[in-house]
Amino acid sequence: MNANTERIRIRGLQPEDSVTAITELLHVAYAPLAAMGFKYLATHQDEATTQRRLQSGISIVAELDGVIVGTVTLRAPKAESRCAWYSQSGVWSFGQFAVRPDLARNGLGTRLMSVIEESALQHGATELALDTAEGATHLIRWYERLGFRLIQHVSWDETNYRSVVMSKRLTAPNP
Ligand SMILES: CC(C)(COP(=O)(O)OP(=O)(O)OC[C@H]1O[C@@H](n2cnc3c(N)ncnc32)[C@H](O)[C@@H]1OP(=O)(O)O)[C@@H](O)C(=O)NCCC(=O)NCCS
Repeated sequence: MNANTERIRIRGLQPEDSVTAITELLHVAYAPLAAMGFKYLATHQDEATTQRRLQSGISIVAELDGVIVGTVTLRAPKAESRCAWYSQSGVWSFGQFAVRPDLARNGLGTRLMSVIEESALQHGATELALDTAEGATHLIRWYERLGFRLIQHVSWDETNYRSVVMSKRLTAPNP
């Protein structure tokens, strides 16, 4: 474990958090995916888009010494979604998920995921879902190891690839 990771605090997004800093974090974290040819929105989105996506759900940040080093947004089911799975009640999803590259692969992403999983459960979710580029096999394998299964494909207007939708059944911990 990286010595820094123990000092990282995970908390809800606050109004004073810098959207500029979060946008920069997203660009730097998603850059390797852009280099692989996957034009995720987060590789190039502007600050207004970051803000809109942060406000689209429950946003969580990871903070190290006052600097935001990770983020993820949990979203409620959306009846009008183009993705059939996301439109079902009980299916919460997450996106805009990033950890600063120098801190990645130390378990922070898994910690952020646990926090949103717990939050989704508290809101009555029965499934936690995500979508990612179907060619991002390293991510798909990781999500599978975390218990996500393949559900369907979806193509978004703003990306240059087809996505896979993955989902994990949520069960409340025993009392
Ligand atoms: C995905 C992300 C948020 C995970 O955060 P993290 O702090 O690295 O997560 P963890 O340390 O808990 O787990 C990392 C796992 O991701 C996988 N992984 C991440 N990046 C990888 C890479 N470049 N190559 C191979 N595997 C990778 C590994 O399987 C790793 O698990 P392991 O350490 O057991 O092998 C972070 O890597 C990131 O910001 N990536 C770029 C943006 C992104 O891919 N977002 C998700 C889009 S759906």
